[in-house]
Amino acid sequence: MTMNVAEYARECAAQGLRGDYSVCRADFTVRQDYNYSPAEQKVWRTLCDRQTGLTERLAHHSYLDGVKALGLLDRIPDFDDISERLRKLTGWEIVAVPGLIPAPPFFEHLANRRFPVTNWLRTEQELDYIVEPDMFHDFFGHVPILTQPVFADFMQSYGARAEEAIALDGDDMITRLYWYTAEYGLIQEPGQQLKAFGAGLMSSYTELSFAVADAKVHRVPFDLETVMRTTYEIDKFQRAYFVLPSFDVLRDAFQKADLKSIVQHWKDRPTLDPASL
Ligand SMILES: [Fe+2]
Repeated sequence: MTMNVAEYARECAAQGLRGDYSVCRADFTVRQDYNYSPAEQKVWRTLCDRQTGLTERLAHHSYLDGVKALGLLDRIPDFDDISERLRKLTGWEIVAVPGLIPAPPFFEHLANRRFPVTNWLRTEQELDYIVEPDMFHDFFGHVPILTQPVFADFMQSYGARAEEAIALDGDDMITRLYWYTAEYGLIQEPGQQLKAFGAGLMSSYTELSFAVADAKVHRVPFDLETVMRTTYEIDKFQRAYFVLPSFDVLRDAFQKADLKSIVQHWKDRPTLDPASL
């Protein structure tokens, strides 16, 4: 771990981040401390009820199967309970964190099949938009699809290989891959309808319908190098979404990729504008 927890905790407090980083362990995890108020439980149910009306139509079936298998909808999930179920399905587990954590420990958790989930939830005033990722984004967005075995393998490989790209100054390139798959990925399997699986979409009431159902949206077939070269939007809807033909294509392309050549070849060349694809 390159960054010390106490130093990071001071930085987060200075930036006004909501989580309590002072209680982090060396790997940036904390206890979940299951002690949520009735108001927080109500926010969770409201978010889940509202979003489920959309995901049932727009999410990939493996995401929906994951929600069912993990039982996320009735109350704020207990991390240990979910970990136990997830371990049986794909060998993944959930660890609690106070919010965003530095890249090296984040990648190390992924490489060991541990997904970091924020232990606090947005307020009733933030149902539609929140600046920092909270438990709803992390859990409802990212965790159900970790029950899909091939995507689960991809996420582990991503954690294991991200440092390789970063060591070559490919930080932006490797982040774009995460952004356009784990956060905003779409999938259309042969003979099937277009569906979403990315967490940024699953946890957004407005962007999920936009990305899957709006006729004006720019959707581009997935290609690993193109994804790694394409810039993205942080606080507005994406100007392009990449569509996988299967999860196998993503996992295999990444596991076989010669990251060193890709990064060295493209990192100092102009990036691609999503609208130009
Ligand atoms: Fe996320």
